[in-house]
Amino acid sequence: MKVTVIGTGYVGLVSGACLADAGNTVFCLDVDQGKIDRLNRGEIPIFEPGLESIVKRNEAAGRLVFSTDVAASVAHGELQLIAVGTPPSEDGSADMQHVLAAARAIGRHMQSWKVVATKSTVPVGTADQVKSVIEEELRKRNLKMDLAVASNPEFLKEGAAVEDFMRPDRIVIGCEDSRAIALLRQLYAPYQRNHDRVMVMGVRSAELTKYAANSMLATRISFMNEVANLAESLGADIEEVRRGIGSDPRIGYHFLYPGVGFGGSCFPKDVRALQKSAADAGRPLRLLAAVHEVNEAQKRVLFGKISRRFPHLEGKTIAVWGLAFKANTDDMREASSRVLIEDLVAAGASVRAYDPAAGHEARKLYADAKNVTIVESAMQAIDGADALALVTEWQEFRSPDFPALKARLKTPAIFDGRNLYDPVVMKSLGFEYYPIGRKT
Ligand SMILES: NC(=O)c1ccc[n+]([C@@H]2O[C@H](COP(=O)([O-])OP(=O)(O)OC[C@H]3O[C@@H](n4cnc5c(N)ncnc54)[C@H](O)[C@@H]3O)[C@@H](O)[C@H]2O)c1
Repeated sequence: MKVTVIGTGYVGLVSGACLADAGNTVFCLDVDQGKIDRLNRGEIPIFEPGLESIVKRNEAAGRLVFSTDVAASVAHGELQLIAVGTPPSEDGSADMQHVLAAARAIGRHMQSWKVVATKSTVPVGTADQVKSVIEEELRKRNLKMDLAVASNPEFLKEGAAVEDFMRPDRIVIGCEDSRAIALLRQLYAPYQRNHDRVMVMGVRSAELTKYAANSMLATRISFMNEVANLAESLGADIEEVRRGIGSDPRIGYHFLYPGVGFGGSCFPKDVRALQKSAADAGRPLRLLAAVHEVNEAQKRVLFGKISRRFPHLEGKTIAVWGLAFKANTDDMREASSRVLIEDLVAAGASVRAYDPAAGHEARKLYADAKNVTIVESAMQAIDGADALALVTEWQEFRSPDFPALKARLKTPAIFDGRNLYDPVVMKSLGFEYYPIGRKT
């Protein structure tokens, strides 16, 4: 099948590469010439496990093309998948300019029937907007042409995006056009060979499903963060509580880890965008307002612990392990590490930070910050540091050389925003250990 993917970011690049890997011929379009040039030089602009080999293999086979040529991209695919960004606007709503620009471009160039499916996370009603924008462009060209619009929200997780795309839990297709549904079913058939995971539903339901899914997951995190903070005050241990409640099959173990708050390019913006849509619809979601508020506070919990232990942070150096918003990605959008670093620097401290993948991103972000040094290894971050703050749950931080760590830190204090270590072991090793919601 010939497929066009519009937007070659985390979702677009992974989707395009995985679709090509099943034998489709995929045209990946982006407006960012620099990104397309890098891809055409064989560079992968994002860190995503397993992605590079798939991109290279399919490019070499001629099934994956990267370009900024809009007319060619519209001409290529009967299926046009929109995967552009929907960043937050000032008021929290999803900024739809890129989605609508992509739709407009389709309307300006299409010569035959198309299925336009939106993979971007978009507010309810977007499919209708996409259709009317395309029809408006067709009218300007004095053309009348059939097209089908669909909502096809993407549920992949950064850090496991290839795996998620190749083995999806479900494929949601919001569409009313039977020909378009058949085409999308055919597109996704290779990724669900043992049983059908396609769910066909109304377009508006599909659009809302994506926001509801992310908001539910964000709610679990904020709930656990609040209970963790309470556990600290009451002398309970959140790890024991987590196991105690996760064992209930109605609750389950997923997304019950307390920490430094959720970040990334999806949860924070999607929670706010759904709140805004709900408020606009006259049905404010009170629960989500609390989820957001708890999360903002949780991003500052580690700094609170550090500043209580070191009331005078001027001149101190804090090592930060982990900058990406979660492990296995280089994405620092809305990462909790950024809030911590900002607070530490504002309090007069210096930061020596290390991340296994996000170093390049951090160097761009902190290019002008003289009190922030991004280093090449976990142990380099410790050199000359007064204490260690652990922010991202990368595998390589789980079992460090504790004696070396203790010898190098000026104060053997670890502020663990991910509860990676056992408080009893840490105590026996002579560390001051400050986890989230645990009995120490
Ligand atoms: N990142 C994730 O894990 C994830 C998961 C599921 C859904 N989503 C949703 O998918 C969408 C894309 O997210 P992302 O993280 O891939 O974004 P991204 O910022 O990584 O990529 C978006 C890309 O779209 C390009 N673009 C913008 N306007 C364009 C246009 N008119 N034509 C062609 N290209 C254009 C940008 O240059 C950029 O490369 C968002 O709505 C997001 O909420 C993201």
